Amino acid sequence: MHESHQILSITPGGSLRGETEVPGDKSISHRAVMFGALAKGTTRVHRFLPGQDCLSTIDCFRKLGVSIEMPGPTEVLVHGKGLEGLQEPADVLDVGNSGTTMRLITGILSGQSFFSVLTGDGSIRRRPMARVTEPLIEMGASIRGREGANKAPLAIYGTEQPLKAIHYQSPVASAQVKSAILLAGLFADGKTRVTEPLLSRDHTERMLSSFGAKLNRLDRGLTAEIESFPSLHGQEIEVPGDISSAAFLLVAASIVPGSEVTLRNIGINPTRDGILDVLREMGANLHVENERLVAGEPVADITVQSASLKGTTIEGAIIPRLIDELPIIAVAALFAEGTTIIKDAAELRVKETDRIAVLAEELRKLGVTVEETPDGMIIPGNQQVKGGTVDSHGDHRIAMSLAIAGLLAADETVIRDAASIDVSFPGFAATLQSLRN
Ligand code: S3P
Repeated sequence: MHESHQILSITPGGSLRGETEVPGDKSISHRAVMFGALAKGTTRVHRFLPGQDCLSTIDCFRKLGVSIEMPGPTEVLVHGKGLEGLQEPADVLDVGNSGTTMRLITGILSGQSFFSVLTGDGSIRRRPMARVTEPLIEMGASIRGREGANKAPLAIYGTEQPLKAIHYQSPVASAQVKSAILLAGLFADGKTRVTEPLLSRDHTERMLSSFGAKLNRLDRGLTAEIESFPSLHGQEIEVPGDISSAAFLLVAASIVPGSEVTLRNIGINPTRDGILDVLREMGANLHVENERLVAGEPVADITVQSASLKGTTIEGAIIPRLIDELPIIAVAALFAEGTTIIKDAAELRVKETDRIAVLAEELRKLGVTVEETPDGMIIPGNQQVKGGTVDSHGDHRIAMSLAIAGLLAADETVIRDAASIDVSFPGFAATLQSLRN
């Protein structure tokens, strides 16, 4: 196996054995920096994910006048400025490839009195932003952007008035939308509420509360309500391992015969652990042990042994709990007995890439059959992956999914544009290699 700047090649064969950790959770790492910046005092973050996306968040907050140190590769010290301490940036804020940075910062900047401009890479500039700018404009924010404030670059003019507190009924189950509105709600004239159709990841609710925000959760968590201008205080945050990164290894060890892998310190927040339910449903051999609560987030060690999987149908309320894991679940489905159907997942089309189209296109290059549907995929099981050359389209999760498919291919699999893996899982190739024998 060889990872250069652009290419990852996977030679099939062997099994996966041993134990490892995975890098810190991406969603939690972003939030630790953002909330730390808005709090008074110092926030210490341990096991921070030093992936490109989270480094973009650090870069943006430094440009907003926040002093952020990295005393070690995964240790971050954020010297918070308080809710009203951010400064007008001297330049455009570049979020790189990070949708979470873009959407959550838009919520924060909507409540500031100064002017700012947000942009990002080609993928970010294609992704829909109206889902956050519409409700924020309803709250009184002054935002302009391409296609009627739907596409970056976005210019946020700033307001001297507090924003208007609203009750927003979100049409999508999106933690980025929910979080952007709750963060704007910190700068509103009353209680801001967001209701979503299905529960999305709740890291914002958990972590903002621990910083001191007055946040209530109603309707089984579907509605979150926040009071404005709380005093937020710096925290010590231990970031759990990212279950979305662990997912690649959980699937790899399930499908490669003779494997047994233990992953330590993995976040198993119930709004994120749909992958465990689906793998169990498919017949995987999973043991979740040593469950504990770390900085308000449930964490466990997970051991997985290879098993014969069977196809399943994935739809409805579980989708937001595994949205980022669907590409690697599709790979697992290739090796299962029977067909797997993924429905209700149209959101996959507006991720870093159109993950339905891109995954189907690239998996076909490896010699398998995958049927694309408007909101998902139909994946026949018991397929033989041939191997070949594929392209990540600059999407980290597509690159890693194709790499795992390559473990069971007849020939070598070469993934182009594999540098994107650093967005969420720096060291992926080395970690995978360390488990192979
Ligand atoms: C994220 C929310 C999800 C997820 C993304 C991270 C977050 O996006 O896909 O990788 O940190 O809030 P949506 O909120 O758009 O579903």
